[in-house]
Amino acid sequence: MEPIIKNTIAFVRQQLSGAEGGHDWFHIERVWKNTLLILEHENANRLICELAALLHDIADSKFHGGDEELGPAIAGKFLEAQQVDTRIINEVKLIIKNMSYKASLGQVHYHSKEMEVVQDADRLDAIGAIGIARAFNYGGFKNRALHDPTIKPEQNMSKEAYKNTQAPTINHFYEKLLLLKDKMNTDSAKAIAQQRHNFMESFLEQFYAEWEGSR
Ligand code: ADP
Ligand code: NI
Repeated sequence: MEPIIKNTIAFVRQQLSGAEGGHDWFHIERVWKNTLLILEHENANRLICELAALLHDIADSKFHGGDEELGPAIAGKFLEAQQVDTRIINEVKLIIKNMSYKASLGQVHYHSKEMEVVQDADRLDAIGAIGIARAFNYGGFKNRALHDPTIKPEQNMSKEAYKNTQAPTINHFYEKLLLLKDKMNTDSAKAIAQQRHNFMESFLEQFYAEWEGSR
């Protein structure tokens, strides 16, 4: 493994010790692995993709009072200290700033093949069995209800509404998770997403059946 990747892993592990279970080092490791998988079929700069995957949640704004500049700033500082090429650092910072689901609901002024790859890798980890586990862990972390049939999911949420929602975790499936399959950028991610999507559909069917007291 290249020294820069090794050093980045060590930095991220240390920064994320104590992070919420859905945004910890293991999330980063899965996103990094997804990135490498997608790169087997896509033409993109490997170093930029790997660094962006490893650093993308280094200081997620939802855990830092909404500060959307902190993550890119910390990543940039680290990479400068590692003497990474300035052009690469700038690309990585732009990806981190613009790849999130929240950012995609607002105005995104940046686009690149590398961002497409890492965004897909992150989104794959938001769906399927892992996606379900992460959503309920985050809901628990925020003390949200599992489900409340009287609170209906919101369609077409704005960035602000998405950031400020207090809704039950089941609503998050309709407000984000079930929409991701059709938002994948690369063909490789689309294929993996379809299968994970089907699993979430079955989960919801079973969830509602049990909610109604069926056996
Ligand atoms: P991004 O990391 O692309 O900005 P989000 O911050 O919206 O995406 O969400 C990352 C993950 O955090 C989601 O996939 C989900 O697991 C969890 N999460 C975020 N918001 C919620 C929510 N309102 N309810 C449940 N889980 C959430
Ligand atoms: Ni992430």
